[in-house]
Amino acid sequence: MEGFLQRLELHSTSAALTEALAGFLEAQLRQSMTRPLGLATGRTMEPVYAALVKRLNQWPAADLKALRQRWLSFNLDEYCGLHRSDPRNYRQFMRRHLGEPLGLPDSALELPDGASADPAAAAEAYGLSVRRAGGIGLQLLGLGSNGHVGFNEPPCSADQACHAVMLSEATRRQNAAFFGGDPARVPAQAITLGLEEILAAEQIHLVVTGSAKAEILQRLLTLKTPDSALPASWLQGHPNVWLWADHAALPTVERLPQVV
Ligand code: GLP
Repeated sequence: MEGFLQRLELHSTSAALTEALAGFLEAQLRQSMTRPLGLATGRTMEPVYAALVKRLNQWPAADLKALRQRWLSFNLDEYCGLHRSDPRNYRQFMRRHLGEPLGLPDSALELPDGASADPAAAAEAYGLSVRRAGGIGLQLLGLGSNGHVGFNEPPCSADQACHAVMLSEATRRQNAAFFGGDPARVPAQAITLGLEEILAAEQIHLVVTGSAKAEILQRLLTLKTPDSALPASWLQGHPNVWLWADHAALPTVERLPQVV
């Protein structure tokens, strides 16, 4: 079977990957993009945003000002039940890593309203905002160690739109470090864009670094057809998926049917 990846960006180290990806994103941002960006949070993205900020802050002042004026991004997901100013939520993550260092107004960085008393309604409203904005152009994606993308937990279907979701034990363990190391303190619920909005993006950039992701990435790349038990495998149905991986996450590409 032919691989589903449009392109494999394999880099020797996460530092090399970060620089290459930040350079790619910078080049994309130079063009006036017709659709909003789709952004992700998590440890994988932290160095990418730091490298991107460094590059963008070297632009001439007028170019940077124009970029600030046209910036519109939609994040994939947000925890429920944390106050909007709680430093552990994704809204504050995006402010810290991108909004403040680039001088972007809060309104330019859209996230689901995790503080809403009605998460299902907040999810529906967020999905509608994405559709009204024309859908996502370039979508950045991290990979959960259980194969989730955004907070689309297994099992999940390809036709689900933005929704409120109960987080799995695996995900709460994965993200416990941000909550004092205690999985029980990780919010039980979140709002996430669904595979429907993700698969409607023009281009998808899946970013996977570190040996802890090697096993799940191997599973993803050896699956012959999408499987609801591995949410990221629905990406096989998208015509323009790039995989950005370092050697720790992808030590060998031989005999991997999904690699071009
Ligand atoms: C988290 C987030 C995702 C993120 C992924 C990988 O739980 N919901 O948006 O991309 O899992 O996270 P990390 O980069 O910290 O490994």
